[in-house]
Amino acid sequence: MHINALSDICGAEVVGFDCGSDFDDATFAAIREAFSDHSVLVFRDQHLTPEQHVAFSKRWGNINGHILTQYLVAGYPELLAVSNKKDDAGQPLGIEDAGRYWHTDVSYEAVPPMGSLLYGLEVPAEGGDTLFASQYRAYENIPADLKDRVASLKARHRFNYVQIQASEDSTRKPLTEEQKKQLVGAVHPVVRTHPETNRKALYVNPGFTESLIDVVENESRALLDTLFGYATDPAVIYRHTWQVRDLVFWDNRCLMHHATPYPADSIRHMHRTTVAGSVPV
Ligand code: OGA
Ligand code: MN
Repeated sequence: MHINALSDICGAEVVGFDCGSDFDDATFAAIREAFSDHSVLVFRDQHLTPEQHVAFSKRWGNINGHILTQYLVAGYPELLAVSNKKDDAGQPLGIEDAGRYWHTDVSYEAVPPMGSLLYGLEVPAEGGDTLFASQYRAYENIPADLKDRVASLKARHRFNYVQIQASEDSTRKPLTEEQKKQLVGAVHPVVRTHPETNRKALYVNPGFTESLIDVVENESRALLDTLFGYATDPAVIYRHTWQVRDLVFWDNRCLMHHATPYPADSIRHMHRTTVAGSVPV
Protein backbone atom coordinates (compact mmCIF):
# COMPACT_ATOMS: atom_id res chain seq x y z
CA MET A 1 0.00 0.00 0.00
CA HIS A 2 1.26 3.48 -0.90
CA ILE A 3 -0.24 6.82 0.05
CA ASN A 4 0.64 9.73 -2.24
CA ALA A 5 -0.46 13.33 -1.66
CA LEU A 6 -2.48 14.70 -4.58
CA SER A 7 -2.07 18.36 -3.65
CA ASP A 8 -0.71 20.35 -0.75
CA ILE A 9 -4.23 21.49 0.17
CA CYS A 10 -6.01 18.17 0.68
CA GLY A 11 -6.34 14.80 -1.02
CA ALA A 12 -4.14 11.71 -1.18
CA GLU A 13 -4.41 8.58 -3.28
CA VAL A 14 -4.12 5.13 -1.79
CA VAL A 15 -2.72 2.62 -4.26
CA GLY A 16 -2.07 -1.09 -3.88
CA PHE A 17 -4.85 -1.50 -1.35
CA ASP A 18 -8.14 -3.39 -1.72
CA CYS A 19 -10.91 -1.90 0.43
CA GLY A 20 -12.73 -5.21 0.11
CA SER A 21 -9.86 -7.24 1.60
CA ASP A 22 -9.51 -8.52 5.12
CA PHE A 23 -6.88 -6.00 6.26
CA ASP A 24 -5.37 -5.84 9.75
CA ASP A 25 -5.65 -3.15 12.44
CA ALA A 26 -2.22 -1.69 11.70
CA THR A 27 -3.23 -1.10 8.08
CA PHE A 28 -6.47 0.51 9.19
CA ALA A 29 -4.56 2.76 11.61
CA ALA A 30 -2.31 3.93 8.75
CA ILE A 31 -5.35 4.73 6.62
CA ARG A 32 -7.02 6.54 9.50
CA GLU A 33 -3.93 8.67 9.99
CA ALA A 34 -3.82 9.49 6.27
CA PHE A 35 -7.48 10.50 6.41
CA SER A 36 -6.73 12.87 9.31
CA ASP A 37 -3.79 14.33 7.41
CA HIS A 38 -5.39 14.68 3.95
CA SER A 39 -9.18 14.90 4.51
CA VAL A 40 -9.80 13.21 1.13
CA LEU A 41 -8.60 9.70 0.34
CA VAL A 42 -8.83 8.31 -3.18
CA PHE A 43 -8.68 4.53 -3.17
CA ARG A 44 -7.69 3.64 -6.73
CA ASP A 45 -8.85 0.71 -8.81
CA GLN A 46 -11.40 -0.80 -6.44
CA HIS A 47 -13.49 -3.79 -7.45
CA LEU A 48 -16.16 -3.78 -4.78
CA THR A 49 -19.53 -5.41 -4.54
CA PRO A 50 -22.19 -3.20 -2.93
CA GLU A 51 -21.76 -5.35 0.20
CA GLN A 52 -18.01 -4.64 0.27
CA HIS A 53 -18.56 -0.91 -0.25
CA VAL A 54 -20.98 -0.90 2.70
CA ALA A 55 -18.70 -3.10 4.87
CA PHE A 56 -15.67 -0.85 4.28
CA SER A 57 -17.77 2.23 5.07
CA LYS A 58 -18.88 0.62 8.35
CA ARG A 59 -15.27 0.46 9.52
CA TRP A 60 -15.60 4.23 9.99
CA GLY A 61 -18.91 4.33 11.84
CA ASN A 62 -22.60 3.70 11.47
CA ILE A 63 -24.12 4.24 8.06
CA ASN A 64 -26.75 6.94 7.69
CA GLY A 65 -29.72 6.48 5.40
CA HIS A 66 -30.62 9.45 3.18
CA ILE A 67 -33.80 11.46 3.22
CA LEU A 68 -34.03 11.06 -0.58
CA THR A 69 -35.18 7.44 -0.44
CA GLN A 70 -36.31 7.92 -4.08
CA TYR A 71 -32.64 7.54 -5.03
CA LEU A 72 -31.46 4.64 -2.90
CA VAL A 73 -30.06 1.68 -4.81
CA ALA A 74 -32.67 -1.08 -5.04
CA GLY A 75 -31.96 -3.66 -2.35
CA TYR A 76 -29.27 -1.50 -0.68
CA PRO A 77 -30.77 1.14 1.62
CA GLU A 78 -27.23 2.23 2.62
CA LEU A 79 -26.34 3.22 -0.97
CA LEU A 80 -27.41 6.49 -2.56
CA ALA A 81 -27.21 6.53 -6.37
CA VAL A 82 -25.51 9.54 -7.96
CA SER A 83 -26.05 8.78 -11.61
CA ASN A 84 -27.43 9.91 -14.93
CA LYS A 85 -28.41 6.37 -15.91
CA LYS A 86 -32.08 5.58 -16.50
CA ASP A 87 -34.06 2.42 -15.79
CA ASP A 88 -35.97 0.55 -18.51
CA ALA A 89 -38.94 2.88 -18.07
CA GLY A 90 -36.68 5.89 -18.61
CA GLN A 91 -36.79 6.90 -14.95
CA PRO A 92 -33.55 8.28 -13.41
CA LEU A 93 -31.72 5.65 -11.33
CA GLY A 94 -30.02 8.27 -9.25
CA ILE A 95 -29.59 11.97 -8.64
CA GLU A 96 -28.28 13.28 -11.91
CA ASP A 97 -27.23 16.74 -10.80
CA ALA A 98 -26.17 15.96 -7.21
CA GLY A 99 -24.14 18.61 -5.48
CA ARG A 100 -23.69 21.08 -8.35
CA TYR A 101 -23.07 23.82 -5.82
CA TRP A 102 -20.72 24.27 -2.86
CA HIS A 103 -21.97 22.26 0.09
CA THR A 104 -21.17 19.96 2.97
CA ASP A 105 -23.19 16.77 2.94
CA VAL A 106 -26.36 16.85 5.03
CA SER A 107 -25.35 19.85 7.17
CA TYR A 108 -29.11 20.49 7.50
CA GLU A 109 -29.40 17.68 10.06
CA ALA A 110 -28.69 18.04 13.77
CA VAL A 111 -26.05 15.29 13.63
CA PRO A 112 -24.44 15.61 10.20
CA PRO A 113 -22.29 12.84 8.71
CA MET A 114 -18.52 12.68 9.33
CA GLY A 115 -17.78 11.52 5.84
CA SER A 116 -19.06 10.17 2.55
CA LEU A 117 -17.64 7.42 0.32
CA LEU A 118 -18.44 7.88 -3.36
CA TYR A 119 -17.57 5.02 -5.71
CA GLY A 120 -17.13 5.83 -9.40
CA LEU A 121 -18.47 2.77 -11.23
CA GLU A 122 -18.63 4.62 -14.56
CA VAL A 123 -17.04 8.00 -15.14
CA PRO A 124 -17.10 10.30 -18.17
CA ALA A 125 -13.96 10.68 -20.28
CA GLU A 126 -14.21 14.40 -19.70
CA GLY A 127 -15.85 16.58 -17.06
CA GLY A 128 -17.63 15.55 -13.90
CA ASP A 129 -14.70 16.46 -11.64
CA THR A 130 -15.38 17.00 -7.96
CA LEU A 131 -13.93 20.07 -6.26
CA PHE A 132 -12.93 19.92 -2.60
CA ALA A 133 -12.31 23.06 -0.55
CA SER A 134 -10.35 22.78 2.70
CA GLN A 135 -12.26 24.61 5.40
CA TYR A 136 -9.21 24.39 7.68
CA ARG A 137 -7.38 26.56 5.16
CA ALA A 138 -10.39 28.80 4.69
CA TYR A 139 -10.53 29.41 8.44
CA GLU A 140 -6.79 30.06 8.64
CA ASN A 141 -7.07 32.68 5.91
CA ILE A 142 -9.73 34.73 7.69
CA PRO A 143 -8.38 37.95 9.23
CA ALA A 144 -8.15 38.03 13.04
CA ASP A 145 -10.97 40.54 13.54
CA LEU A 146 -13.35 38.45 11.45
CA LYS A 147 -12.30 35.33 13.36
CA ASP A 148 -13.28 37.15 16.56
CA ARG A 149 -16.59 38.26 15.04
CA VAL A 150 -17.65 34.75 14.04
CA ALA A 151 -16.10 32.83 16.96
CA SER A 152 -19.34 32.38 18.87
CA LEU A 153 -21.85 32.70 16.02
CA LYS A 154 -24.23 29.96 14.97
CA ALA A 155 -25.95 29.46 11.64
CA ARG A 156 -29.19 27.90 10.46
CA HIS A 157 -28.90 25.16 7.81
CA ARG A 158 -31.77 23.90 5.68
CA PHE A 159 -32.21 21.62 2.65
CA ASN A 160 -34.03 23.66 0.02
CA TYR A 161 -34.90 20.57 -2.00
CA VAL A 162 -38.45 21.69 -2.60
CA GLN A 163 -37.16 24.78 -4.46
CA ILE A 164 -34.49 22.80 -6.33
CA GLN A 165 -37.06 20.25 -7.42
CA ALA A 166 -39.56 22.89 -8.48
CA SER A 167 -37.08 24.74 -10.69
CA GLU A 168 -37.89 24.47 -14.38
CA ASP A 169 -34.92 22.43 -15.60
CA SER A 170 -34.87 20.03 -12.64
CA THR A 171 -35.28 16.33 -13.33
CA ARG A 172 -35.60 15.61 -9.61
CA LYS A 173 -38.36 13.52 -8.12
CA PRO A 174 -40.78 15.24 -5.74
CA LEU A 175 -40.72 14.65 -1.99
CA THR A 176 -43.49 12.92 -0.10
CA GLU A 177 -45.36 14.95 2.51
CA GLU A 178 -43.60 12.84 5.16
CA GLN A 179 -40.18 13.77 3.77
CA LYS A 180 -41.10 17.46 3.67
CA LYS A 181 -41.99 17.26 7.36
CA GLN A 182 -38.58 15.81 8.17
CA LEU A 183 -36.76 18.77 6.62
CA VAL A 184 -36.73 20.92 9.74
CA GLY A 185 -33.14 22.11 9.40
CA ALA A 186 -30.50 22.52 12.09
CA VAL A 187 -28.36 25.10 13.84
CA HIS A 188 -24.58 24.67 13.98
CA PRO A 189 -21.56 26.74 15.05
CA VAL A 190 -20.00 28.79 12.23
CA VAL A 191 -16.58 27.50 13.26
CA ARG A 192 -16.22 23.92 14.44
CA THR A 193 -13.35 22.01 15.95
CA HIS A 194 -12.57 18.74 14.23
CA PRO A 195 -13.00 15.98 16.84
CA GLU A 196 -9.92 14.04 15.68
CA THR A 197 -7.40 16.65 14.54
CA ASN A 198 -8.57 19.37 16.96
CA ARG A 199 -8.13 21.90 14.15
CA LYS A 200 -10.70 24.63 13.58
CA ALA A 201 -12.66 24.68 10.35
CA LEU A 202 -15.27 26.96 8.86
CA TYR A 203 -18.64 25.21 8.85
CA VAL A 204 -21.01 27.28 6.71
CA ASN A 205 -21.79 26.44 3.09
CA PRO A 206 -23.62 28.18 0.24
CA GLY A 207 -25.75 25.09 -0.41
CA PHE A 208 -27.48 24.75 2.92
CA THR A 209 -26.57 27.65 5.24
CA GLU A 210 -29.45 30.06 5.30
CA SER A 211 -28.69 32.69 7.91
CA LEU A 212 -26.71 33.55 11.02
CA ILE A 213 -28.58 33.32 14.30
CA ASP A 214 -29.18 36.63 16.13
CA VAL A 215 -27.67 38.69 13.33
CA VAL A 216 -29.93 41.08 11.40
CA GLU A 217 -30.72 39.89 7.89
CA ASN A 218 -28.57 42.36 5.92
CA GLU A 219 -25.53 41.75 8.03
CA SER A 220 -26.13 38.00 8.04
CA ARG A 221 -26.17 37.91 4.23
CA ALA A 222 -23.07 40.13 3.93
CA LEU A 223 -21.13 38.17 6.54
CA LEU A 224 -22.03 34.82 4.99
CA ASP A 225 -20.99 36.07 1.56
CA THR A 226 -17.66 37.21 2.97
CA LEU A 227 -17.14 33.82 4.64
CA PHE A 228 -18.11 31.98 1.45
CA GLY A 229 -15.41 34.01 -0.33
CA TYR A 230 -12.76 32.51 1.96
CA ALA A 231 -14.44 29.10 1.85
CA THR A 232 -14.28 28.88 -1.95
CA ASP A 233 -11.02 30.73 -2.61
CA PRO A 234 -9.16 28.87 -5.40
CA ALA A 235 -6.16 28.71 -3.02
CA VAL A 236 -8.06 26.22 -0.78
CA ILE A 237 -9.42 23.97 -3.57
CA TYR A 238 -8.28 20.55 -4.79
CA ARG A 239 -9.92 19.40 -8.05
CA HIS A 240 -10.45 15.67 -8.26
CA THR A 241 -10.51 14.20 -11.76
CA TRP A 242 -12.07 10.79 -11.49
CA GLN A 243 -10.58 7.55 -12.70
CA VAL A 244 -13.01 4.72 -13.12
CA ARG A 245 -13.28 2.65 -9.92
CA ASP A 246 -11.97 5.36 -7.62
CA LEU A 247 -13.54 5.16 -4.19
CA VAL A 248 -13.31 8.69 -2.80
CA PHE A 249 -13.72 9.17 0.93
CA TRP A 250 -14.06 12.78 2.10
CA ASP A 251 -14.34 14.41 5.51
CA ASN A 252 -17.49 16.51 5.84
CA ARG A 253 -16.20 18.08 9.07
CA CYS A 254 -13.49 20.14 7.39
CA LEU A 255 -14.36 20.26 3.67
CA MET A 256 -16.93 21.55 1.25
CA HIS A 257 -17.31 19.97 -2.18
CA HIS A 258 -18.86 20.82 -5.54
CA ALA A 259 -19.75 18.58 -8.48
CA THR A 260 -18.99 19.91 -11.97
CA PRO A 261 -21.00 19.25 -15.16
CA TYR A 262 -20.15 16.70 -17.86
CA PRO A 263 -21.38 16.02 -21.41
CA ALA A 264 -24.99 14.80 -21.50
CA ASP A 265 -24.08 11.92 -23.81
CA SER A 266 -21.65 10.36 -21.35
CA ILE A 267 -22.45 8.17 -18.38
CA ARG A 268 -21.51 9.00 -14.80
CA HIS A 269 -22.66 6.31 -12.40
CA MET A 270 -21.72 6.30 -8.73
CA HIS A 271 -22.81 4.90 -5.38
CA ARG A 272 -22.43 6.79 -2.12
CA THR A 273 -22.44 5.70 1.48
CA THR A 274 -22.71 8.26 4.26
CA VAL A 275 -20.98 7.68 7.61
CA ALA A 276 -22.60 9.05 10.77
CA GLY A 277 -20.84 11.86 12.61
CA SER A 278 -21.22 13.80 15.84
CA VAL A 279 -22.88 17.07 16.81
CA PRO A 280 -20.59 19.88 15.55
CA VAL A 281 -18.92 21.85 18.37
C1 OGA B 1 -22.33 13.76 -3.26
C2 OGA B 1 -21.84 14.81 -4.16
C3 OGA B 1 -20.39 15.18 -6.00
C4 OGA B 1 -20.12 14.57 -7.32
O1 OGA B 1 -22.47 12.61 -3.69
O2 OGA B 1 -22.54 14.06 -2.07
O3 OGA B 1 -21.90 15.96 -3.82
O4 OGA B 1 -19.13 15.01 -7.95
N1 OGA B 1 -21.30 14.38 -5.29
O5 OGA B 1 -20.86 13.68 -7.74
MN1 MN C 1 -22.34 16.08 -1.65
